[in-house]
Amino acid sequence: MIIPRSCRATLLAFVFAATTSHAQDAELARGAELLAPFKKDLQQALKSGLAEGPAEAIQVCRVKAPGIANSLSVAGVRMGRTSHKLRNPDNTAPDWVSPIMQTFLDDPSSREPLAVGLADNRWGYVEPIMLQPLCLTCHGSELAPGVAEQISELYPEDHAIGFEAGDLRGVFWLEFPGEMQ
Ligand code: HEC
Repeated sequence: MIIPRSCRATLLAFVFAATTSHAQDAELARGAELLAPFKKDLQQALKSGLAEGPAEAIQVCRVKAPGIANSLSVAGVRMGRTSHKLRNPDNTAPDWVSPIMQTFLDDPSSREPLAVGLADNRWGYVEPIMLQPLCLTCHGSELAPGVAEQISELYPEDHAIGFEAGDLRGVFWLEFPGEMQ
């Protein structure tokens, strides 16, 4: 059978697209798996911090969150949290994350995690962080007096207040080496 040149190109493009999306699915699953302990440890630390009071919990967010992210950032894996309304400028994301975060901001119906190919056979994974009622203590519109003071002292450039439950608070991001080296 002779396949016209134009069709061959289309077929190739189709095969390529299918392979890409297959790889993307696999990396999406790996990203979610690598991120899971960060989410779990963070949630636990926040809950036990809040049980001791907001001042203790602020220290959890300030010290433990970056500590947990660092301890899990091994073997070529890096991860963190970022936001379009940052509290700590140290949480500014790598460049490749911002356009993806923007797509979540532009389209409230898109809240599914995404995997993207990066340079040097590395992959990026981004997952939206939605604001839960428990986050309002420190990210809502009306902070308790002690909390508001402590936060404005520690973070003079804070932009992370005024959120409502269900809002996009920011994203988790993750970088990791691809399976096929
Ligand atoms: C007890 C106060 C407190 C509570 C409750 C809290 N946070 Fe935070 N949050 C902070 C502080 C303080 C920081 C800055 C951490 C740092 O210095 O890296 C922060 C930072 C963040 C960041 C990193 C981006 C940035 O703005 O610097 C995200 C994302 C975030 N919080 C989401 C949440 C979510 C989602 C919840 C609820 C599940 C939550 N927070 C609950 C105090 C709190």
